Amino acid sequence: MKRIVILISGRGSNMQAILEAGLPVEIAAVISNKPEAKGLEIAARHGIATAAVDHREHESRAHFDAALAEKIDSFQPDLVVLAGFMRILTADFVNRYQGRLINIHPALLPAFPGLDTHEKALQEGVRIHGCTVHFVTPTVDHGPIISQAAVPVLPGDTPDSLAARVLEQEHLIYPEAIRWFAEGRLVLENNRVKADVAQASASALRSPWAA
Ligand code: GRF
Repeated sequence: MKRIVILISGRGSNMQAILEAGLPVEIAAVISNKPEAKGLEIAARHGIATAAVDHREHESRAHFDAALAEKIDSFQPDLVVLAGFMRILTADFVNRYQGRLINIHPALLPAFPGLDTHEKALQEGVRIHGCTVHFVTPTVDHGPIISQAAVPVLPGDTPDSLAARVLEQEHLIYPEAIRWFAEGRLVLENNRVKADVAQASASALRSPWAA
């Protein structure tokens, strides 16, 4: 069975969705860069090993990343899952886990990389927004896309209401993507992901939708 290490920084709702999805994987550990992260308590309640590598105790990004990598490697993972991990990672770190480091981003990449994606989506007036699971490359919020889910932006949406609609989809597509990885269905070819996944019949999300 594939071994997974999940990295978090905060509340850990994506991590929780992954822990509770009944995936055919062994969750070897949940690691946070913040010892006080709420998600660590949730992981411990699920009987998962937890650890913290506090970035504030390291003099540079490179030092922190080296300490983090050492901790991760002690659990010998096949896949490292970034789930609301709010640190920019050095190229050395990312390259070490090439092809086995994935992230979820709360926007339809390549639109809206970085922070405050829901505010940005509302500011731009996009009609459709969503989330993306992707392999990580040294460029932040960039890399071969595994899956995306789209939601409509509705009249009267606030960043919070839009975030909640997107988060619901995050909790579906992230465990699913990990399942595909575990089942060997994802192949990286020329920086693109070939997914050996039965695709549901063609459908479209339109917004606004006039029925
Ligand atoms: C999620 O929206 C995720 O896409 C982003 O940070 C948020 C983390 O939420 N990278 P949680 O900690 O998983 O609840």
